[in-house]
Amino acid sequence: MSETQNIQWFPGHMTKTKRQIQASLKLVDAVAEILDARIPVSSRNPDLRNLIQNKPKIVLLNKCDMANKTATKMWIDYYFKQGIKAIAVDCKSGRGLNKFSSAVNEVMSEKINRLRAKGMKNPTMRIMIVGIPNVGKSSFINKIAKQNRAKVEDRPGVTRGNQWFTISKSLEMLDTPGVLWPKFDDQTVGEHLAFTGAVKDQVVDIELLAVRLLDFLKKIKPDDFIERFKLDETDLDEIDSYELLKIIAKKRGMLISGGEVNTERAAVMLLDEFRAAKLGRITVEMPYGELK
Ligand code: G4P
Repeated sequence: MSETQNIQWFPGHMTKTKRQIQASLKLVDAVAEILDARIPVSSRNPDLRNLIQNKPKIVLLNKCDMANKTATKMWIDYYFKQGIKAIAVDCKSGRGLNKFSSAVNEVMSEKINRLRAKGMKNPTMRIMIVGIPNVGKSSFINKIAKQNRAKVEDRPGVTRGNQWFTISKSLEMLDTPGVLWPKFDDQTVGEHLAFTGAVKDQVVDIELLAVRLLDFLKKIKPDDFIERFKLDETDLDEIDSYELLKIIAKKRGMLISGGEVNTERAAVMLLDEFRAAKLGRITVEMPYGELK
């Protein structure tokens, strides 16, 4: 797949965003990183750890409604073992978002207690929310922010254009300045982002992408996928993925003139159905997997 189209405009843009994030970090107590629960590795920003240094971090495994439940639990446990608080959320329905404030309190308990001991009754914690495009950052903000925008002009030193949102009396959120980027130089990352629709279909070969998705689905054999296309599970290991795409096209009656199957249409349909979780709640990346 073509990744170069994406890379070309990144360097200048990345440098600017890095600078903006570093400046904004001084204004917040912690960082909340939104990941796509189906691809927690590929939906990460590769430079974030370096950028945020020792700031406390909360991980939001978003789109958990489309991810495998057990896998999400494994990811939460994986982060827990690294001393990072992770929660599963669904920013479309709002499920899980009620856990956000308590997660912040848990992560910030030392600071909150210190400020309380100094006589501050209800200290306000400020959190910066970060995430690469399409992980659901806008959905998160829309669902959780009580009022659209906090008063920016009241804050000394705040960069113009920084967006503050009020979540509660004791919690304020800063939207990331700039656009955060994924690890674009890794082909698997690019592929997994494309599976979920985070990379636009115009920049990828859609049939090749569908074949790569089928390579993966053949391995994990989700029940809904097998059932939806009336496939014989035992045959799957033997079938070449492009042949499988042809079989799927045939089963859906996707033909072009001369009786040939329309694999392009089948590829679009397969990816659409995967992205809508119609093939099951599927997590593509597991903790301790091969991706670094
Ligand atoms: P971004 O700001 O990080 O770029 O992401 P945004 O909130 O725009 O979300 C990207 C897409 O993901 C949207 O779908 C949004 O509805 C969907 N989404 C966000 N969070 C969740 C979630 O927890 N579960 C599910 N199932 N979907 C989620 P879209 O098709 O681009 O837009 P829309 O038609 O749904 O509004």
